[in-house]
Amino acid sequence: MLQVYWKNATDKVVGSDHGITQTDLTGIENAMQRAHETVVQQCREGTLGYAALPSQRPQYAEGVKRLVAKYQPDARDMVVLGIGGSALGNIALQSALNPSTWNLLTDRARKGPRLFVVDNVDPALLKDIMKIVQRRLDRTVVNVISKSGETAETASQFMLFRDLLQRKVRRGWADRIVATTDAKKGTLHEIAKAEGYEMLDVPDDVGGRFSVLSPVGLFSAAMCNIDIDQLLAGAESMKQRCEVMDIMQNPGCMLAAVKYLMMAKKGKPMHVMMPYSNRLHMMADWYRQLWAESLGKKTDRDGHDVFVGPTPIKALGTTDQHSQVQLYREGPNDKLTVFLEVKKHPANTRIPEDFTDVPGLGYLAKRQTGKLISAEKLATEFALATSQRPSVTIRFPEINAKHVGEFLYLYEFTTSLMGELLNINAYDQPAVELGKQATFALMGRDGYDDLAKRTRPFKRTDKRYLA
Ligand code: PA5
Repeated sequence: MLQVYWKNATDKVVGSDHGITQTDLTGIENAMQRAHETVVQQCREGTLGYAALPSQRPQYAEGVKRLVAKYQPDARDMVVLGIGGSALGNIALQSALNPSTWNLLTDRARKGPRLFVVDNVDPALLKDIMKIVQRRLDRTVVNVISKSGETAETASQFMLFRDLLQRKVRRGWADRIVATTDAKKGTLHEIAKAEGYEMLDVPDDVGGRFSVLSPVGLFSAAMCNIDIDQLLAGAESMKQRCEVMDIMQNPGCMLAAVKYLMMAKKGKPMHVMMPYSNRLHMMADWYRQLWAESLGKKTDRDGHDVFVGPTPIKALGTTDQHSQVQLYREGPNDKLTVFLEVKKHPANTRIPEDFTDVPGLGYLAKRQTGKLISAEKLATEFALATSQRPSVTIRFPEINAKHVGEFLYLYEFTTSLMGELLNINAYDQPAVELGKQATFALMGRDGYDDLAKRTRPFKRTDKRYLA
């Protein structure tokens, strides 16, 4: 199972100015107990939607499997259209659980379609992907994902791909689209019903960034042969571990305690996630959204302005040792680094027995690459600790669906606890709305005239740029 190692975040390693002391832990115990009780109670009452996904809503996995049985046998390409919580989980799962070369493998070597997650409206990206998939659109599945059904990015991607399908496939084009959206209402829901698309539900009570274990994340994963039962089983086992109220036993409570104390008492609002594994790199992207949208809030639940929120930062070991670690060691001591470590990597290569008599290279001869990356991680942990920079390590015994499920649930639960400790609503994102609406206004949507006027001074003409 996933393990959390936090000794390098304590006073014993980095000193009491920067590390957590026994007194700090004792001091937070009551607040943590209350936070834990509230979150666990919400899980039991069924008011915390994401917590029900691992085992209490089997209908979602069943719906996904029905569509996988229909589409997977002949699908060669799959395009996911979505953004934010409707895309980041899909990317994280695919990157972690399939090789990075998945799309380069031959159709025979892959047990599922190539996967393209289009999570932007960058014109060049859209064009590139449309060009690639249009060669075999009759064997492509387009999965449009939007809870609200009206997000401008997803809506425009959808209109482009729908048009492409209509033009190139003609008969049966609508059957190439699967809409993942609200089960009962919304613009996308209405269109999907009217045009006869297959549909999957975004649970009403699960916000985008908590939806990876719902049909939002599960469909593309299962299409690409990821074992979604194991993913859910892993999440369920972490859920059970997180039910015990004991900071020392409960990985969610421990992680939340360290992160909260670092932010509130040790002057460390910067929370780096640094996987020592390319496969887990996109997990850090998923975490960034979860952490930022859930915990970055202006007001607390009593209506006071608090302007809280740790800043999530994504790094990659070993790559960023040669880019970021200089800052992490000698810059402001305002960061907590969470390393993701893998005990048994999906592959391990022995370095050839060459250059044995060359002092600068000989030590590498015959060593395993897995051993090298572990040594590099330990070296960075040591180097940070030497400069009184705290860190935590989350260890994956190996990268498989079960451990990834554990990890996803661990972070969702930790986010809920953080929300309670900070006394904020971790499930809304009011600050994202204005940007979404200003886009509507700038693109001329009816009913947004006032907002369009307010955005006018921000429009630049070429004259306002420096030459
Ligand atoms: O986490 C969230 O709620 C957001 O990131 C949404 O997922 C994102 O804005 C996309 O929204 P929708 O699924 O409604 O298109």
